[in-house]
Amino acid sequence: MLDTQTGKALHSILAAETADLPPPPWDLIGEGVWGSVHDLGDGTVLKLTRRHGGLGSGEALHLRETIALSALGGLATDYVKVPRLIAHGTFGNAYIGSAPPLAGWLRLTRLAGKPLSATSPYGASGQARDRLGERIGAAIADFSRHATERAQTAGIKLGDTIARTIGLARSRLGQPGLHDAADQLADAWAGQIARGRLVFIHGDLNTDNIIDMGNRLGFVDLAEAGWSLAEADFRHLEETGTLRDAVFRGYAARTGKSPDLDIYYLAVAANALTTIALHGQAGHPRDAMRRSGFFRHCMERAGLS
Ligand SMILES: Nc1ncnc2c1ncn2[C@@H]1O[C@H](COP(=O)(O)OP(=O)(O)O)[C@@H](O)[C@H]1O
Ligand SMILES: [Mg+2]
Repeated sequence: MLDTQTGKALHSILAAETADLPPPPWDLIGEGVWGSVHDLGDGTVLKLTRRHGGLGSGEALHLRETIALSALGGLATDYVKVPRLIAHGTFGNAYIGSAPPLAGWLRLTRLAGKPLSATSPYGASGQARDRLGERIGAAIADFSRHATERAQTAGIKLGDTIARTIGLARSRLGQPGLHDAADQLADAWAGQIARGRLVFIHGDLNTDNIIDMGNRLGFVDLAEAGWSLAEADFRHLEETGTLRDAVFRGYAARTGKSPDLDIYYLAVAANALTTIALHGQAGHPRDAMRRSGFFRHCMERAGLS
C-alpha cells in the first residue's frame, strides 16, 4: 500500500506524534478493505485505518478501536493477550501521498505469531483441532471476564455490534424480503439484549483476528468491541464445523456455562446477513445461493423463518 514517497510523508507526520518511530520501508503484515498493518521492526506495529471500506465508516471503526484498546490494551491471562496501545491519532488531512483517504492510526505492541487463518485447521489431526478449539473457547471466556471488569471500571459506553451490523447490512440490501428478515432479526436481538446479561465482547473474532502465540492466543482488531451478549463473540465460528464444538467446550469448561444456542444463531444470522449485503449476487450463482441458504439456516435455527 505504501510507495516510497507516501511512506516518507506518513513518517514525517507520525514521527511528531509517537517517539522513536522507525523510518520506512515498513513490512506489510496485513491488508484488508479498511486499511493496512505494518511491522515496524521494533516490537511494535502501525495500523492505518481508511475512511472508506466495507459497511460503516473508517472514522467510527478507528474511534471504537481506540476507546476499547485504551481500556483493554495489555490485558493478559494464561489463555489470551491483547496488544497494548502505545499511541494513536486521526488525520486532519486524509490525503497523504498515494494512500487511500485515511481516518486514523494506531501504534500497538506486536504480538508474536501468525493469525489462525494462516494455517488450515483441517490439515491438523482431529485431536490438534479439538485442542485449538478448546484454547479459543478458554481465551474468549477469559477475555469476556477481564474485559468486562476493565470496561466497567473505565466507564466505556461502546454499544452492541450485532444491532449495528444488522442496521448497516439492512441499508445495503436491495430485496424487500431481506429487509423484512433484517427487521425480524433486529427485533429478536433487541429482545434478547433486553433480557440478557451484557458483557464486554471483542466483537469480531474471525480467524484473521486471532493470533496463535504458541501458548496464548492474541486478540487483535478491536474495532467492533462493545457491550453485548457473550454469544456474539462466537458469531464467526459457525462455518468452522467441529472446531466450533470444541470452542464451546473450552468456553463451558472455563465459565461453567454453555453458550445459549438461540442467541448464538441470531448473532450468526446477523453475520450471514452482512455477507449477503457485502457480496449480494457476486461470484458464481452457487455462491449467492450458498450465502442465502446459510442465512435461512441460521434464521430457522434461531426460531425465525
Ligand atoms: N498487534 C499486532 N501484532 C501482530 N500482528 C498484528 C497486530 N495487529 C494486527 N496484526 C496483523 O495484521 C492483520 C490485520 O490487522 P487488523 O487489526 O485485523 O486489521 P483489519 O481491520 O484490516 O482487519 C491481522 O490479521 C494480524 O495478522
Ligand atoms: Mg482484522
